Amino acid sequence: MPDPQLVLSARVQAALSAAFGPSYADADPVIRPSQFADLQSNVALPLAKRLQAEQGEKQNPRAVAEEILGELDVADLVSAVEVSGPGFLNFTFSDDWIAAQAQDVLGDERLGVPRRERPEKVIVEYSSPNVAKEMHVGHLRTTIVGDAIARILEFLGDDVVRDNHVGDWGTPFGMLIEQLLDVGVEKAATDDSSVSDLTAFYQAARQKFDSDEEFATRSRQRVVMLQAGDAETMRLWQILVDVSKRYFNNVYRKLGVTLTDDDIKGESFYNDLLAPTAQELTDKGIAEISEGALVVFPPGFKGREGDPLPVIVRKSDGGYNYSTTDLATIRYRADTEHADRVVYVVGAPQALHFQMAFAVARMAGWVSDGMRLEHAEIGNVLGTDGKILRTRAGGTVKLAELLDEAVERAGTEFDKIERDQPLDEAVRADIVAKVGIGAVKYADLSVALDSEYIFDFDRMIAFRGNTGPYLQYATARIRSIFQKAGVAPEQATGPIRITHPAERALALRLLDFGAVLKQAGDTAEPHKLAAYVYSVADAYTTFYENCPVLKAPDEETKASRLALCAVTLRTLETGLELLGVPVPERM
Ligand code: ARG
Repeated sequence: MPDPQLVLSARVQAALSAAFGPSYADADPVIRPSQFADLQSNVALPLAKRLQAEQGEKQNPRAVAEEILGELDVADLVSAVEVSGPGFLNFTFSDDWIAAQAQDVLGDERLGVPRRERPEKVIVEYSSPNVAKEMHVGHLRTTIVGDAIARILEFLGDDVVRDNHVGDWGTPFGMLIEQLLDVGVEKAATDDSSVSDLTAFYQAARQKFDSDEEFATRSRQRVVMLQAGDAETMRLWQILVDVSKRYFNNVYRKLGVTLTDDDIKGESFYNDLLAPTAQELTDKGIAEISEGALVVFPPGFKGREGDPLPVIVRKSDGGYNYSTTDLATIRYRADTEHADRVVYVVGAPQALHFQMAFAVARMAGWVSDGMRLEHAEIGNVLGTDGKILRTRAGGTVKLAELLDEAVERAGTEFDKIERDQPLDEAVRADIVAKVGIGAVKYADLSVALDSEYIFDFDRMIAFRGNTGPYLQYATARIRSIFQKAGVAPEQATGPIRITHPAERALALRLLDFGAVLKQAGDTAEPHKLAAYVYSVADAYTTFYENCPVLKAPDEETKASRLALCAVTLRTLETGLELLGVPVPERM
């Protein structure tokens, strides 16, 4: 296990136990990055307080730090350890230790990333677009971020269930089915009708519903038939679902996300559970009738006027709500799926909805104390004008077109690179698609998921800076070194030696992969992995500029540097793969 933080933690804990007794063995050693060394332990400061409280004598943190130092056994790890400031312990790893750890990472197919000791069953719910509606950029972001979270957790060893909670049920389906009948079912089923232009289809239905009394009446009756499971109505509904699925899959394929039809558990899946869910809330005395509706008032949720906020379980007309489906879903995920953790990758505007649904589920006792329900709040995507992204004409942006534009613009940038020979057209197309899609995905992933971000093609497709194309390029550059050397990366086995500060900095960075992945997985924050991948590329650039590889001063140094290149390449590739950013073989 090469993770420097963990290795050091264990050693400091051993020293604590030796110096102050076994009850201190599991104290947090407070290991942090250090300005003056590689890592520092700040444990002496809280420890002095604890000792003071227990022994009633004033304790000087510096003296406590000295005492720990006296028991520390780190000779094999560090070249220097010293007490500094008010009682920090500063550690500088020895070059030999770093080289040996990097060598271990090189030889490990998991690049030193440990598998979870206690894997969890994690449901990652993401994408969740709506049937008969175009996906929007918000769905783009939940799809990309959710996919990265699923990939990361899976790599760590969790039992991951991908769950696409498609919006495929509810009152709008009355009008959508009637619109389908008006357009012509046969045309719709063959995919080249106006149904495949989902935005137009939905808007036409909406408009008719608002202006045409007869259509509105038909639509309402249709909702009743749908809820009653009328066979012909279900057949029509299924056509809408199938057309939409084809469209979603098309977007998923373009994006290279890992979702398939098997991952779809739409709102309709929970339809039969809605009534029992409402019943149970009533039986348990949690839900009450208010103004004809069945509602729950979870404690602590208040409206603007300080009035209690309800979760509406059943409307006064007898219909169920979006919230009811989510309650039934939580119940199912706990009882039937036995999830330890559920990550909802959904837009930030739905935060209150989820907080309240989670609260009601806990009131009902559906969620055990150990089960975690987390809303990964996805920030809004804005246009370069700082407003919600729109087309120039002011309409909603169509996702498929947006992705096509990304690829086209990537092509324009790509063609600016000078080359000795023109590229084969098929090769070029493959690279350009990966660059365009990779640029969009990385831009989504590199900012904290809950912050808003501006969708700006020029910034995301740049070949410099913290962008997808830059990182793709970094891998291509390493691969071309191997090509020039006439060696395959797998053949570069070292031994790794540290002879230059840039080698040292790069190797040390490479040892952090496991710790970073664990953090990104535990907090469901892929941007932590993105930042790490970028920092590896950055450390590599410094190394590359300072440490000639092919023209190294001697064969041993060359072998060591090629090995460092090989670990860097695999770390970048694995990191990008876990983010879901495609990596072209060359650029
Ligand atoms: N279909 C919803 C939308 O497009 C997102 C569903 C979120 N997930 C959930 N369990 N409510 O806004």
